[in-house]
Amino acid sequence: MGRAFVYVILGGGVAAGYAALEFTKKGVSPGELCIISEETTFSAFKSAVMPASELGIIVLKVHNEFDSYGSREYVPPYERPALTKGYLLPEAPARLPSFHTCVGANEERLTPKWYKEHGIELVLGTRVKSVDVRRKTLLTAVGETISYNILIIATGARALKLEEFGVSGSDAENVCYLRDLADANRVVDVIQSYAGGNAVVIGGGYIGMECAASLVTNRINVTMVFPEAHCMARLFTPKIASYYEGYYNSKGVQFVKGTVLSSFDIDHNGKVTAVNLRDGSRLPADMVVVGIGIRPNTSLFEGQLTLEKGGIKVNGRMQTSNNSVYAVGDVAAFPVKLFGETRRLEHVDSARKTAKHAVGAIMEPEKTDEFDYLPFFYSRVFTFSWQFYGDNAGEVVHFGDYSGKTIGAYWISKGQLVGSFLEGGTKEDYEALAKTTRLKPAIDDITELETQGLGFALTV
Ligand code: FDA
Ligand code: NAD
Repeated sequence: MGRAFVYVILGGGVAAGYAALEFTKKGVSPGELCIISEETTFSAFKSAVMPASELGIIVLKVHNEFDSYGSREYVPPYERPALTKGYLLPEAPARLPSFHTCVGANEERLTPKWYKEHGIELVLGTRVKSVDVRRKTLLTAVGETISYNILIIATGARALKLEEFGVSGSDAENVCYLRDLADANRVVDVIQSYAGGNAVVIGGGYIGMECAASLVTNRINVTMVFPEAHCMARLFTPKIASYYEGYYNSKGVQFVKGTVLSSFDIDHNGKVTAVNLRDGSRLPADMVVVGIGIRPNTSLFEGQLTLEKGGIKVNGRMQTSNNSVYAVGDVAAFPVKLFGETRRLEHVDSARKTAKHAVGAIMEPEKTDEFDYLPFFYSRVFTFSWQFYGDNAGEVVHFGDYSGKTIGAYWISKGQLVGSFLEGGTKEDYEALAKTTRLKPAIDDITELETQGLGFALTV
């Protein structure tokens, strides 16, 4: 048995939602487009007063080898960044359907009803287990063959597990990861079970920093453990990191740096009670949150498509080494023209824009130029909000008041400004920063740039 579609999007995350919206803008016909996603969630956030269908969730009865007949809830694309932020708030937390794509870019909110009205087939709660790009077919875990003319790969990434670093215990009931709604529901449940308790956060990257802030807001005592000398080592300079670490300290967060965990103490109920570190210390724990990086979901395409930088290599039209297959979002390694390099970015803005660009290249090839993207990352924790544009390469010039509310930095490489960071700016400040970074202005005098600070971007 099987079905055939003109366009199939494999994956139902951020990029899939933005691609679907763009397809409708470009005139896709009902019945032509299908989205396949394995993402499921359980009923922890089911409202007592609203049926799940009105919450933007589809409830289906399933039967599989793991659980007997029961309800699983399948969820169409949503804005994943909400999961470490509004979703974890103790009061008035964000819940679906409020953050379905594409509200994050101030565009239409695509509820299950929207997909129905546009004749877009949602094949949810369904894992694709193999793909044959030569035959243009996908095989789902329930044995259905779905064929396509054009495939967009939007499979995103999976969270790395501790077991991949030789530590066991990921399946303990108070150890949490955070990649999807099911994970976020687990974090919410565990927070509620251990109010006022101790959390150990493993990893000092985005998940670690954003979750630690949310845990503190939930009155949980947090200790963060990571191998580097400071937090957010992939992006922050020591000076920027110390600015945020100082504030986290003031909120009671402890940092244990330069070490990793070696094992958990687990009680007879299967709960972690302490985290043992390689430096010999032991941290009592009521809960553990792990954020130690991701791996792009490329395995279905290994040996079929060209891979690079851990992802699927695409050209400036988001097209893979097979003409009928495109890749977008976290999984795509695409040419960043501005820096003359292929990059794979793990951020929501690039997921949205690569998706939109791929659909343009598919539906209106003659009107679509090569993708020309300025990398853009952001985060929001406590009352902080920062944005970063470009590349964090070369020499750094810090500006602003590092004991105040507005701080920033520029990165200068080969005599040009290539990257910029700002905490606490206005909309106009951020626009100026983005514009300036895209221009890559020549910098002759670094001391002068330091003196001008944000003023430099505002006058370019
Ligand atoms: P995404 O992971 O969103 O979706 C992939 C989808 O494919 C999933 O639904 C998955 O189930 C499905 N799939 C995979 N394999 C499949 C298979 N074989 N069969 C069927 N379905 C399959 N970025 C940022 O810039 N600012 C921020 O604040 C945040 N915050 C943030 C918080 C959290 C908790 C996370 C996990 C991530 C962020 N990010 C972020 C990163 C951002 O969310 C991320 O870059 C995008 O979600 C990537 O979008 P994709 O569509 O590529 O993958
Ligand atoms: P990350 O790459 O940002 O950070 C991983 C961290 O794991 C490193 O900083 C390091 O401290 C730590 N680490 C690595 N190996 C370790 C080990 N063995 N033991 C202990 N610590 C170890 O990844 P993440 O924080 O897991 O985030 C996952 C994904 O979600 C990323 O793609 C990220 O871009 C995305 N995300 C982005 C945002 C945002 O852009 N605001 C927010 C949340 C998540």
